[in-house]
Amino acid sequence: MKNARITIIGTGYVGLVSGTCFAEVGHQVLCVDKDPHKIETLRNGGIPIYEPGLEEMVRRNVAAGRLQFTDSTAEGVENSDIIFIAVPTPPQPDGSVDLSFIEGVAREIASHLTGYRIIVDKSTVPVKTAEKVAETIRRYCKARVEFDVVSNPEFLREGFAVEDLMKPDRIVIGVGSQRPVTAMREVYEPFQAPIIVTDTNSAELIKHAANSFLALKISYANALSVICEAAGANVQEVTRGMGLDARIGTRFLQAGLGFGGSCFPKDLSAFIQISTELGYDFRLLKEVQRINAEQMDRFIKRITDTLWVLKAKRIGVLGLAFKQNTDDVRTSPAIEVCQRLVREGAMLRVHDPQAMDKARTLLPEGPQVTYLLSQDEVPEGCDALVIATEWPQFAKLDLARTRASMNTPIVIDGRNLFDPAEMERLGFIYKSIGRGS
Ligand code: UDX
Repeated sequence: MKNARITIIGTGYVGLVSGTCFAEVGHQVLCVDKDPHKIETLRNGGIPIYEPGLEEMVRRNVAAGRLQFTDSTAEGVENSDIIFIAVPTPPQPDGSVDLSFIEGVAREIASHLTGYRIIVDKSTVPVKTAEKVAETIRRYCKARVEFDVVSNPEFLREGFAVEDLMKPDRIVIGVGSQRPVTAMREVYEPFQAPIIVTDTNSAELIKHAANSFLALKISYANALSVICEAAGANVQEVTRGMGLDARIGTRFLQAGLGFGGSCFPKDLSAFIQISTELGYDFRLLKEVQRINAEQMDRFIKRITDTLWVLKAKRIGVLGLAFKQNTDDVRTSPAIEVCQRLVREGAMLRVHDPQAMDKARTLLPEGPQVTYLLSQDEVPEGCDALVIATEWPQFAKLDLARTRASMNTPIVIDGRNLFDPAEMERLGFIYKSIGRGS
């Protein structure tokens, strides 16, 4: 199965980027989505999301005839050796995961299945989902056909999705029998990454365990930032000194506004919920959530402690996306900062290099919120400037111009982008996370 026929059901972040990368290494890929407008956009060369490097790669593979789009699941099931399920698994109010899209796709696949297929779950799902998917397909499939359900979690980060997919740290393949292993190995062979073959339950747990651990690292760094502030130490130096121990590693130890996005908060809640159902109270992870929420409260307090009354204060905010390199504003700490400042009566001037369109739905433009096309315009007339997202271009802000254009030169940096000594030298009142007072 060197050049496999691959169908991907669901063309969100994971589905579209995975499908495109599979095509890039030579597989024949058909991406299915039930939203005909999305399919129309993709067929016309448009990309519904911002992801560095993706548009070019889609164009190249469509032109080469290796990447196609359809809104017909029947067509996808018919013309495939391997079917990947990459539909959303949104959170429910109690923290558990809504699996209705997965169930719906399993039933649809079942209704069109006429011969052996490998059905791969790529969406992030609770442990035991592969077993449920297999049971559902067996129940709803009229024909007597054989199939295998495989769990193959995806670890891509938004903003670095193409890079993460083309050069993965590892590939996890969870199987219920040996039959699909060779084909799955061949599909991933071009990516030259270590492949781990496990049972399906372990594969599903690896995803939740990995994301929860990364969130734990971030909360650890944020807890340290509180100690560093109290002790007059520098959290960046502490985490670097820790992280250079190869057993710890320097990544995901950036203290800041806390983690957000569509994965960590959701996966953490889901894992806590799953653990409870399995009879274990995962208090360690509840503490990770608590530290994350508290970090936001502390940041807002830092702003009010500095500015005193927020009503009618003019505050510039750089960043709306939940992190750099993306237009995604779901569960964005930057949006939460803005919403809380608006509630206090502040007048905001905001900018983000990519996320302004999507942000408008959560933070409507109006008397209290002005969207600006250039980051350099944001500080004009402001009583304070807040850095809310770690976009690298914010660190290149023209500081002399910023200082001159502000009403009062106060910078409150939630992402530690600037050097405190340099900011002080330039005449700013500068507050950041875990670096001095
Ligand atoms: C994450 C996982 O990294 C990825 O493996 C998984 O498949 C999906 O979830 P993503 O949500 O795209 O990816 O973003 P990530 O880069 O992990 O950042 C998540 C959040 O943590 C962001 O809000 C980011 O700003 C924050 N973060 C990250 C920190 O606050 N400090 C850090 O050191 C790293």
